[in-house]
Amino acid sequence: MKDRFLRACWREPVDRTPVWFMRQAGRSSAAYRELRARHGMLELARDPKLAAEITMQPVHELGVDAAILFSDLLLPLEAMGASVALEEGTGPRLSPPVRKGEDVARLRALDPEKDLAFVLETIRRVREKAEVPLIGFGGAPFTLASYLIEGGGSRDFLETKRFLHAEPDAWDRLMARLTEALGAFLRAQADAGAQALQVFDSWAGALSPLDYAARVAPWSRKLLRSLEETDVPVIHFGTNTAGFLESFRSAGGDVVGVDWRVPLDEAWHRIGEDRGIQGNLDPAALLDPPEAWRAAAADVLRRADGRPGHIFNLGHGVLPQTPRESLQLLVQFVHEHQEGVRGT
Ligand code: CP3
Repeated sequence: MKDRFLRACWREPVDRTPVWFMRQAGRSSAAYRELRARHGMLELARDPKLAAEITMQPVHELGVDAAILFSDLLLPLEAMGASVALEEGTGPRLSPPVRKGEDVARLRALDPEKDLAFVLETIRRVREKAEVPLIGFGGAPFTLASYLIEGGGSRDFLETKRFLHAEPDAWDRLMARLTEALGAFLRAQADAGAQALQVFDSWAGALSPLDYAARVAPWSRKLLRSLEETDVPVIHFGTNTAGFLESFRSAGGDVVGVDWRVPLDEAWHRIGEDRGIQGNLDPAALLDPPEAWRAAAADVLRRADGRPGHIFNLGHGVLPQTPRESLQLLVQFVHEHQEGVRGT
């Protein structure tokens, strides 16, 4: 079934549970590492021919039910005026960091058709050939704001929290700007042919439930609402969200993506069965031999209990050191594990 991923997004019955992996095209792939030996990551993302090839590679190699656009969360920030560098070992660096109201005012509005034409061209190329649905993606306002404010990744997000608490007006202006830019970018991806969209709020879980609900959820909600006109399903993903899953879900998304820190059945109950769920095997499980992780994968499927609307994924991205063969075996395992699947 070619459309089992999209059917599951809409909570329609499927023949087998659909499965794909965040970072399925990254450094765990030998084909990707070979290309990376010759080109920088962002250089690959800016080349529609290569980016389309990398997008499709895991579909052929792993047998996953969806392709995810090969690109990066940080590219729209670059187009808005930040300078972005991906440094080996230390993660992304953005400069200059946004620390004051004036820094927010300097961010440019985004014109996706012009600034990110290469992304839209990659989508068109993938759609010419793809046998499975293509997922486009972008960052949620909070996660993008955190990169701008911290100047890169962070463990405790102290600068971001300081900004949110000390400069409430500038914070709202920053969130408004990011919400607008990402809305335009994600809608342009759907117009170019993306058949589903994933909004990554990867670091929302750093926040207290109160700050999330009051200062972040309204912007995510505005962004997710603005995607309804596209008619493609939207996956709203975050990690460490178990402390405020109800407000995370109420911000929107046809499907809510959860990490491994919460049992899938408990999460689904809290999200509500009027939404789909994506997840949630611990990516670290795949560093063990298959006989060790099969029980954990079966546990995720048992908790989903074959209810329409489950998309199998890891709780976060594939770790670079994951054996490629384990990903292949996991796709087979999910597809063969049919007892629980109610449907066609
Ligand atoms: O999932 C996929 O296979 C599609 C491609 C994709 C990439 N980044 C490619 C990439 C996607 C969906 C992203 C999203 C992204 N980028 C997120 C959200 C997802 C998440 O992990 O929560 C974030 C936070 C970023 C920012 C970013 N870009 C980080 C933290 C890193 C890792 C830094 C490092 O060196 O490991 C990147 C780089 C990046 N983006 C790589 C890939 C394949 C690895 C860089 C490389 O090839 O050297």
